[in-house]
Amino acid sequence: MASFAPASREVTFDPLKIPQAPGDPLYGLVTAYEADKSSEKVDLGVGAYRDGNCKPWVLPVVQKAEKIYHDNDEQDHEYLPIAGLPEFTNAAQKLILGGDSLAIKENRVCSFQTISGTGAIHLAVYISSPSWPIHDQVFANVELPVRYYPYFRKETKMIDFDGMVYVLESAPKGSIIVLHACAHNPTGVDPPHDQWKKLAEIVKANSLFPFFDSAYQGFASGSLSEDNFAILYFVEHGLGLVVAQSNLGLYGQRVGAFHFVTYYNRVASQVTVLQRSEISSPPIYGAQIASIILNNKQLFTEWEDDLRTMSGRIVEMRKCLKTELERLQTPGNWDHITSQIGTVFTGLDVRNTACS
Ligand SMILES: Cc1ncc(COP(=O)(O)O)c(C=O)c1O
Repeated sequence: MASFAPASREVTFDPLKIPQAPGDPLYGLVTAYEADKSSEKVDLGVGAYRDGNCKPWVLPVVQKAEKIYHDNDEQDHEYLPIAGLPEFTNAAQKLILGGDSLAIKENRVCSFQTISGTGAIHLAVYISSPSWPIHDQVFANVELPVRYYPYFRKETKMIDFDGMVYVLESAPKGSIIVLHACAHNPTGVDPPHDQWKKLAEIVKANSLFPFFDSAYQGFASGSLSEDNFAILYFVEHGLGLVVAQSNLGLYGQRVGAFHFVTYYNRVASQVTVLQRSEISSPPIYGAQIASIILNNKQLFTEWEDDLRTMSGRIVEMRKCLKTELERLQTPGNWDHITSQIGTVFTGLDVRNTACS
C-alpha cells in the first residue's frame, strides 16, 4: 500500500534550477554539416558506412529479411520477454562466442537483447585513451569512476602497448577493463594476436574483468572470426567477461545484445532486474530482422558477402585517401591510413592539410 507519510528527505522539483547541458559534440557537427551550403562538403562525423554516393547502405540481406518479415502474417507487436527475442539472443551469442563454444554448451553465458551497442555498454572501469567518447558518458552517468589506460601513441600512430601493459598490471584487482574487440574507435588500431594473448595473461594474473565492446565484427577485416579473435581467446582461456554487441548496419533500429560469460548463474537474475527497471523489455522489429538473417544459412552467407563488400570498399577508400594525400604532398607520413582498419582516424588537422 502506498505510504503518504512525509519523506525523510524532501525531494522537490524546480524546473528553473535545471542547468543547460552542453550539446552533444558529434550531433552538433552533424547539424553544422547539414547547414553548410558548400557543394564540396564531406561528412566525416558519424562512423557509419556510406556507399560511393555518400549514402547509407541498406544491406541487400537486410532488405530480403524485411520482405520475409512483412510477408509473414503471423508477426505482431507484442512485448518481448525482458531478456529480448530468444531466437535473436541465441544467434547473437553463437555469433560472438562461436557455434561450438564450450561456454555456451556449459550454460555459462547469459544474454540480453539491448538498445543497440550503447545500451549494452550501459549495463560496468578502465577505458582506452582515446576511446569512443560515449564510453566516458555512459559510465559517468551510472556513477562508475572511470580511469584510463594509454592506448595510442600519436607520434608513431601505433598502439602504446607498453603503456597499456604498465597501467593494466598496476590496476586494482577486480577493475573492469573496456576493450574494443576489433576496429578500435577512434584509432582504427588493434592489438595483434600476440598482444591480445599477453593482455589475457595480465587480465588473468591481475584478476581484472574484461568488458568487450564489439561494434564492428565482420566489418573490420571482412571475417567474422578474425574480428572475434580476442573474445574467443579470452573465453577459451577460462576468463569471465561481458560483451556489448551491435552489428548488421541496423543502427537506427537499435539492435544489440549483452552477453555475460560467467561461472555464476545468479548474474542473469540481476541483469533481468536492471533491464526491467530501465527499459522493461527491448524493441522487437530490428531483433526480428537480425534473427531472420542469423538463423537462415543462405541469408547468413549473403550477410557475410555484404560484410566483405563493406570492408573491401573501406580498404579501397583508405588506399585512395593515402594516394591523394601523398599526391598533394601533405606534410607527414600517411602509412597509418592503410595499416589501420575500420573507422578512419585520419591524423589530419587543419594545420597539415594541403587541401584548400
Ligand atoms: C566503439 C563503439 N562502441 C559501441 C558503438 C555502438 O553504437 P550503437 O549504440 O549505435 O550500436 C559504437 C558505434 O559507433 C562504437 O563505435
